[in-house]
Amino acid sequence: MGSRHVSGYAALQRIGLSNVDLVAVCDIKLENAESVARQAEELLGKKPTVYQSIDDAIKDPAIHAFDIVTEAFSHLEVALPALRAGKHVLCEKPMALTVRSCQAMIEAARSTNSVLAVAENYRRDPPNRLVKALIEAGLLGHLHLLNQSFIGGDDHIIITPWRHQKHRGSIALDICCHYTDIVQYHLGEIESVYGESFIAEPVRRRRETPEMDLPSYWARLKQMPEKIVPDCEDSAIGFFQLASGAKSTLSYIPSGPGKREFQRSFHGRAGHLTMEKDRTGGIVEFTGEKGAIRTDELQRLIPSFELDEVTSRLFDGKVSYTLPFAQSDAALMAIEIYDFADAILTNRKPEVDGEQGMKAVAAVLGIFESSAIKRPVTMEEILTSKVSAYQDSIDEELGLLK
Ligand SMILES: NC(=O)c1ccc[n+]([C@@H]2O[C@H](COP(=O)([O-])OP(=O)(O)OC[C@H]3O[C@@H](n4cnc5c(N)ncnc54)[C@H](O)[C@@H]3O)[C@@H](O)[C@H]2O)c1
Repeated sequence: MGSRHVSGYAALQRIGLSNVDLVAVCDIKLENAESVARQAEELLGKKPTVYQSIDDAIKDPAIHAFDIVTEAFSHLEVALPALRAGKHVLCEKPMALTVRSCQAMIEAARSTNSVLAVAENYRRDPPNRLVKALIEAGLLGHLHLLNQSFIGGDDHIIITPWRHQKHRGSIALDICCHYTDIVQYHLGEIESVYGESFIAEPVRRRRETPEMDLPSYWARLKQMPEKIVPDCEDSAIGFFQLASGAKSTLSYIPSGPGKREFQRSFHGRAGHLTMEKDRTGGIVEFTGEKGAIRTDELQRLIPSFELDEVTSRLFDGKVSYTLPFAQSDAALMAIEIYDFADAILTNRKPEVDGEQGMKAVAAVLGIFESSAIKRPVTMEEILTSKVSAYQDSIDEELGLLK
């Protein structure tokens, strides 16, 4: 992800709206830091300083902010010292593995008045921006349901072995937190959660080729064991009750070869709206009494809708775009990086602050907790850690259980 974020910095620079200087990179594996530093030099024209320890990086007065792109389980150990030292933090999703960890990060940011932002990239995709505007304009009428599912896959290790270890960040949390952010972005606060999480593939094997054709992904693949036995859920099915009265379902099961099905559809009294997978620039379609209307026409229904300047420049002003994945991926990173730096420079809240990042994590943990105790759980119970049976062993290891 470090390498992909560098492409985000480069995309910002390319459109002439860069508001941030990448002055250093840090990784406990020196070769990874060196490789990202070389990529940064190539793309940004300046080689960043290389650090191998967060403590050394924190001492560097040239560094005002940290962009945390490390494994999910390490977000806490990297963010806390940085925030406590008064540095601002942009943290990759999932913000952390437990609610207590997220709370500790929020508290650290508050104590030094630092900006804490979470890199939720899917919501920044132009089709999601349009859909939010359409919902706010009342196109769907009374909203009943948001249906999301991403089903199908195989028994390969998904991206990294650590994503199949509970104490390092399960793939179900890793992926579903994207979708719970989307639920809350479009529909507002979640009130309660009911669900089940489970292991769909008890043994996972190394892939022949990586998920993305990037040097960093090839390098990582070479270091993977041939097979692993996951100790945590790779799948989750959840039902969310929203404060607005709307409901949402989420199914993520990365197993079962054949068609890999993605669905995001909104159902209201006035019609329904469908979207294609995030980061593809796919069509948004509304079907109501008068038939189907697609992206461009939908945009004309709300003349006040416009993409912000950074998004518009990165996507050529288009909501439905056709760009290579690496380019749209980098563009979404660029938008979140710009928003983070702008929040620091103009002393405002970032679009996704610590509270919002925590709620995306909490909603997924709500499924896991509900599955563990076999009853629906309220977000209040999750956010105050009144219900935490699933998370307790992780918090114990992190020293967060009092
Ligand atoms: N937003 C997205 O679309 C998206 C996509 C992929 C990954 N991610 C997120 O990015 C994060 C990283 O994922 P990844 O697949 O790149 O992981 P990875 O395991 O490939 O890379 C993590 C890097 O962090 C380094 N690291 C670990 N602990 C460290 C520490 N304490 N200090 C400094 N460096 C440390 C490791 O050495 C490694 O180089 C995760 O939170 C993941 O969920 C987000």
